[in-house]
Amino acid sequence: MTDRYAVVGNPVEHSRSPAIHAMFAAQTGQRLAYERLLAPLDGFESTLRAFAAAGAKGCNITVPFKFDAFVLAARRTERAQLGGAVNTLRFDADGWAGDNTDGAGLVNDIQHNAGRPLAGLQVLLVGSGGAAAGVLGSLIAARPERICVVNRTVDKAQALVANHAHLGHTSGVRLAAATLAEAPANQDVVVNATSTSLAGATSPVEPHVLARGALALDMMYGPKAQGFLDWATAHGAESRDGLGMLVEQAAEAFFFWRGVRPDTAPVLAALRAELGTTP
Ligand code: ATR
Repeated sequence: MTDRYAVVGNPVEHSRSPAIHAMFAAQTGQRLAYERLLAPLDGFESTLRAFAAAGAKGCNITVPFKFDAFVLAARRTERAQLGGAVNTLRFDADGWAGDNTDGAGLVNDIQHNAGRPLAGLQVLLVGSGGAAAGVLGSLIAARPERICVVNRTVDKAQALVANHAHLGHTSGVRLAAATLAEAPANQDVVVNATSTSLAGATSPVEPHVLARGALALDMMYGPKAQGFLDWATAHGAESRDGLGMLVEQAAEAFFFWRGVRPDTAPVLAALRAELGTTP
């Protein structure tokens, strides 16, 4: 029996997830098929229910349905609960289990692939939408010294930080919220979780946020990330796109479904070769 999975979104045609999971499956000897499923904007739930009724085992969820998936999950992992969004569903017989693997994907990429252990560092998280909310809990769990969340609309940064205050306290991580203009200087790791790069912009924050030798990561990849990456490189930072995060969050989802952890390095290398990108 081949188990079926899919990435569900709108749009979904450019998703790399089918290729990534096909490589994971080949590597681990797991028998599964992974497809793209375009859900109408007003038909997410019915699309999912039909897919599950056809015997599928689970799915990934992408824009704009991660909040809808959160609501549809009968139970959720702690990290999904904290981020308020679900990007991975497992269709268990006793109800759908929801997880959010984005944060672990980001942290694994920073720590293992980019070789930057976050413990003790100063981290700047730029943005306070769904993408930022999905990763803040995992960033805190990696125990940097401090995380400052900055956003154009400062209320949203404050709300996000307030929502994570308990975790920050128990993890011994100082949390702060500020406007883009108030972003602190000399940050070791800067993560762009805004959608500004979609508009081809460079960076929503000023170059003084970058400490010498900082890592500046955009959660996007391809042409959408290029403006931010060029800005970071021009100001002496090590730039990194979101491709590693994409592969790592997929590996976390694969583990959530199959209980098997794939080796991400050859998959990331294959994607980079195909896309012709450097980190
Ligand atoms: P996503 O799910 O990708 O996070 P979102 O929830 O719409 O999308 O959030 C988009 C993020 O990008 C927000 O932090 C948004 O800032 P606001 O909360 O102030 O709207 C940020 N963003 C979008 N366009 C921006 C711009 N031109 N300049 C600065 N920040 C921008």
